Amino acid sequence: MKTRKQRVTEQLLQVDRFFVGDFTVRGPEVLATNLSANSEAKPSGSPLASSTGVQENEKRQVVESGLAQIVKRIAGCRKCELAATRTHTVPGEGNPRPRIAFVGEAPGEDEDRQGRPFVGRAGQLLDKIIAAMGLKRSEVFICNILKCRPPGNRDPKPEEVEQCSPYLQEQLELLGPEVIVALGSHAAKTLLDTHLAIGKLRGRFHDYYFSPMLPPIKLMPTYHPAYVLRNYTEETRKQVWEDMRLVLKELKLPVPPK
Ligand code: URA
Repeated sequence: MKTRKQRVTEQLLQVDRFFVGDFTVRGPEVLATNLSANSEAKPSGSPLASSTGVQENEKRQVVESGLAQIVKRIAGCRKCELAATRTHTVPGEGNPRPRIAFVGEAPGEDEDRQGRPFVGRAGQLLDKIIAAMGLKRSEVFICNILKCRPPGNRDPKPEEVEQCSPYLQEQLELLGPEVIVALGSHAAKTLLDTHLAIGKLRGRFHDYYFSPMLPPIKLMPTYHPAYVLRNYTEETRKQVWEDMRLVLKELKLPVPPK
């Protein structure tokens, strides 16, 4: 097992990688993770390891089976016009017992082809962000507001968001993350039911309510990785990194220096 010093050094290296100028595209083999691959117990050395033992295993099984049911329903969904043009549905993937859930907008071309979220260029940048946080992609959950690709990557239509949102809501209820990170304007506006611009929303936590009966979950809006790629400046990356530092702090996880 790695020492704390080794882990901190590794994390600092990942932060550096997020901030260095060139963004290199890696092969898909690096991103090999899916729901079934993540169904093993969390490694005990993991900073996200929570309660263990029988109770945790039972909870995990319940969540996994609930998520699998949602995956099936999404695969057969024909509620909107996107069903006619999709190659694969993209329900989301990751740790069924995550402390953080990342929510993006909608699958793009690569995601539609593979049936997995955030596997294209934006996804590779998201992987860098997650690594800079000292985490593995398999420790978090990653999904989108829409589960099918809008043709030509156009913006989601309000009726598509309305039809698709219940799947996300059910996923989040089952997953029960401590923090939701809304990636980009569409995710943030949909989850927070607001018209405020992402620039005004990011940088602080908001409350995400499942229902008036349940306590809210902390939601951190930040810029979408695709936006960061289009505006690849030190300033934009710094803002995303500030947001992620707040998430780490909230979860009492090690926060690397700026
Ligand atoms: N952009 C998103 O919002 N989601 C993906 O899965 C990929 C790109």
